[in-house]
Amino acid sequence: MIMTFLPVSHESLQQAAQILRNGGLVAFPTETVYGLGADAFNAEALAKIFEVKNRPRFDPLIIHIASLDTLEKVTDMSQLSEETKRKLFSLAEKFWPGPLSLVLPKNEKIPGIATAGLSTAAIRFPSHEAAQTLISLSGTAVAAPSANPFGSLSPTRAEHVRDKLGDKIDMILDGGPTQIGVESTVLDITGKSIKILRHGGTPKEEIEKLIGRVEENVSNAEASGGLSSANEASGGLASPGQLKSHYSPQKPLLVFSREEMIRLPYEADAAYLFFDGSARDAWLEAREQQEGQGRLDTHGRPEALVLRTFSEKGAVLEASACLFEILHELEKCRISRIFAQFAPFEGLGAAINDRLSRASK
Ligand code: TXA
Ligand code: MG
Repeated sequence: MIMTFLPVSHESLQQAAQILRNGGLVAFPTETVYGLGADAFNAEALAKIFEVKNRPRFDPLIIHIASLDTLEKVTDMSQLSEETKRKLFSLAEKFWPGPLSLVLPKNEKIPGIATAGLSTAAIRFPSHEAAQTLISLSGTAVAAPSANPFGSLSPTRAEHVRDKLGDKIDMILDGGPTQIGVESTVLDITGKSIKILRHGGTPKEEIEKLIGRVEENVSNAEASGGLSSANEASGGLASPGQLKSHYSPQKPLLVFSREEMIRLPYEADAAYLFFDGSARDAWLEAREQQEGQGRLDTHGRPEALVLRTFSEKGAVLEASACLFEILHELEKCRISRIFAQFAPFEGLGAAINDRLSRASK
């Protein structure tokens, strides 16, 4: 297939919208990661997404909208209690547009393939301007998973999409690197208690500030508690995309606490991925003290050392923005394994740690 690769512009967005209306697939930037979009009402186009990504049919897609008016077309509001509606509107007011996907009863016009047979659909209103314009111009809602082969690293640049899916889709819109770098938070508000199904760009703490306690139902493939019967169709996973092993680079990855990381011995064919500059410096210092024992020297030139730091200052947003980017780069590096340091478990750190843990399985 001949794919068109174009920077975001008025013309390319028009062209992309036309492709979506014709049932084609377009990769486009969002504030989180690049999405692989198709018309959410076109079952055939949706089937192509699963085929191209090699994605199991039990893993439902997120449906993207660019106005609150469209919400009614993709959901069935009549199934929501007044209380849930109130929560929905305060969440939408505070976090939309933005990196939050809300699980809601689906509209019957959305084909079952989009939601893997579930009676609910995850709905997201992205804040990225190009994404909004594309959705508006297409005149429909856009189903879009991350634009990567199933289970592999998520794309935070148009080039990542081109490398892995370039020959299988109609168009890639290049909007440069994404800002947040991890996917949206998935929140189920259909039940009595509100549940986080995937940590992501909207921190749990911020959601709790607005609507009170939120339960964690971030599944690990074994998870089974509290699922509706509809969800049993998807292998008993609350959020089927949350398989234990996911977001994986093509190299073994091991994750450590700060203390463990600093104690790791030097290995010439490993990459060391520090969360912050101070941990990296502490590690380097400890290794220098061992230099007398020949550690660095016997293993080769010091410049062969592959060191990366997510954020010099240890800022979680900066770290999440480059997480997948660095992992994509290391995938291509001549190293045989990756040692990575956990982020602090707060704010976006929860999403970063979730992705690192899954990448390590
Ligand atoms: O940031 C994002 O959310 C990106 C961009 C492109 O918007 N999209 C994305 O999609 O990450 P995807 O397909 O890679 O992940 C969708 C996640 C999966 O874990 C899936 O299981 C969950 O959302 N999900 C979708 N519909 C659901 C539903 N009805 N109930 C529970 N989980 C659902
Ligand atoms: Mg994905």
